[in-house]
Amino acid sequence: MGILDKHKILETNATLLLAGSFVVVTIGGIVEIAPLFYLENTIEEVDGMRPYSPMELAGREVYLREGCYVCHSQMIRPMRDEVERYGHYSLAAESMYDHPFQWGSKRTGPDLARVGGRYSDEWHVLHFIDPQSVVPESVMPKYGYLLNREIDPEHIQDIMATNRIVGVPYTDEMIENAVVDFNAQIDPFGDGFDALLERYPGAQIRNFDGEDGISEMDALIAYMQMLGTLVDFSTFTPAESR
Ligand code: HEC
Repeated sequence: MGILDKHKILETNATLLLAGSFVVVTIGGIVEIAPLFYLENTIEEVDGMRPYSPMELAGREVYLREGCYVCHSQMIRPMRDEVERYGHYSLAAESMYDHPFQWGSKRTGPDLARVGGRYSDEWHVLHFIDPQSVVPESVMPKYGYLLNREIDPEHIQDIMATNRIVGVPYTDEMIENAVVDFNAQIDPFGDGFDALLERYPGAQIRNFDGEDGISEMDALIAYMQMLGTLVDFSTFTPAESR
């Protein structure tokens, strides 16, 4: 009996074929899944990543509420055209503190994973008030009303505590000081400057929208200007080539 004839027995007997398929798929599944039980972490650790500051986190909430992810992705794929346009491809670690992640699946507008520092705060304010005033062919909606919406940090501690439940390493100290840090990030001449930087290295501290008071515009621009700036890619080397 040749091997093909033996295979014929399998192919002509539905129950045997099902049982055989089950065995093969199970082996494949175990090979893929079992190692995950022995790995502590599937995300390569990267210097510079830290939980978002209260102000950045509040801006991220505005981003979620407004549905910016409907038109914008936050994941640069490792392909040449993307890397040349947007910069280093996104690392898993860069979205490790995003709950839910903002990779997105639609790009009506450009990817935002590295938009931090690409434009001035003033550009962002003008662009959010009237996108067509800076990019005439833009189809992005206007978000000028964010300037008039004062942002109240009353929920920021709860949001941080909730993020901690799903694994973001906010310390008790960070949560206790959330409102102080929130206010400090808009006030470059205040007392909270050093403490904020100690808790959130690299946080950018200034009046983002240029207006008095703290608006949702401040928070959103603080978030935009942070995106993609935490990891220093001039010193980063992927694990395999270390
Ligand atoms: C209907 C789709 C749409 C929505 C919703 C949208 N955008 Fe855009 N966005 C665009 C398009 C198209 C562009 C490119 C043209 C331009 O710069 O306006 C863009 C550009 C941008 C840019 C400049 C990016 C770059 O690299 O030039 C930023 C920043 C931005 N959007 C942020 C946001 C934020 C934040 C929100 C939510 C508050 C948002 N967008 C909502 C379509 C959208």
